[in-house]
Amino acid sequence: MRRICIANQKGGVAKTTTALNLAAELSRMGKKVILIDMDPQYSSTAAVFGNQKFEYNIYNAIVDKIDIQSIIQHSDVFGIDVVPSDIELSGATLRISEHIGREKVLYHCTRKLKYDYLLVDAPPSLGLLTVNALTACNELIVPICPEFFSLKGIKLLEEIVENVRGGLGADIKITGVVITRHRERVVMNEARDAIRHYFGKRVFKTVIPENITLEEAHNAHLPVYKYDPKSKGAEAYHLLAKEVMHGKCK
Ligand SMILES: Nc1ncnc2c1ncn2[C@@H]1O[C@H](COP(=O)(O)OP(=O)(O)OP(=O)(O)O)[C@@H](O)[C@H]1O
Ligand SMILES: [Mg+2]
Repeated sequence: MRRICIANQKGGVAKTTTALNLAAELSRMGKKVILIDMDPQYSSTAAVFGNQKFEYNIYNAIVDKIDIQSIIQHSDVFGIDVVPSDIELSGATLRISEHIGREKVLYHCTRKLKYDYLLVDAPPSLGLLTVNALTACNELIVPICPEFFSLKGIKLLEEIVENVRGGLGADIKITGVVITRHRERVVMNEARDAIRHYFGKRVFKTVIPENITLEEAHNAHLPVYKYDPKSKGAEAYHLLAKEVMHGKCK
C-alpha cells in the first residue's frame, strides 16, 4: 500500500483540493483508495459529504482508540473511502501530548488497513497532527503555490521531515512537489522556475492552473472530473494522478 501525505503548513495552497481530486482520479483508474482527513477544519470531509454528521471521526480513533474500520465512510460519488474529521480534532493534540508514542498514533491506527493508496490530508500547521500525518506515511507530496516566499516555508517543512525521519525513525521522504494555482504571470513563472531549480526532478511535470472549476466542483461536492471533465482543472488532476501512479517523482 502506498501511503501518501499531502502537506504544507501554508494555508490555502490546495492540499485538500489535491488530496480529493487525486484520490478520485486514482479510484477512477481502478485503485482502492482511502482518504484520511487530518484537518480539524474538516474541509475534505465537508467537500465529500456536505453537512452530513457522523457518529465517529478520526478524533475517536486517535484519542478514544476506536477501531478505524468502524469510522470509515464510503463515497460512491468520489469512489473512495474516507475517514472523516471534525472540529473536535483540534482538541486531540492536548489529549495525546503527554502520551508516549504520541507522534505515531495515526500510524498505529492505520497499520492494518488494506488499500492500494492511503492519502492523508494534513492541516496547515506543523504541529502534532501534521507529525502524525507524516509518520503514518512514507511519501510526501507538497502542493506549492508559486509565490515569492513559497520556498521559505518549505525549508521548515523539510526540517520537520528530517526530524521525523531521524528522531522518530519514520520512513518518509518528499517524493513530489506539485505546483498549484498557477497563473501565467511573470512573478509566478519566476517562482515556478525557482521551485523547479530547488527540487529538480522531484517536481511533477503537471502544473495545476488556477481554475475556478476546481472551487465550483468542491462546493458542488463532486470530484472535478465529474463536475466538468473538459475543464483545465480536471485535465491537470488526471495528468497528475498518472504521474503519481507511475512514480515519476520518486
Ligand atoms: N487550482 C485552483 N484554482 C482555483 N481555486 C483553487 C485551486 N485549488 C484550490 N482552489 C480553491 O482555493 C481554496 C483553498 O484550497 P484548499 O482548501 O484545497 O487548500 P488547502 O491547502 O487545503 O487549505 P488549508 O490550508 O486551509 O487546509 C479553496 O476554496 C479551493 O476550492
Ligand atoms: Mg485543506
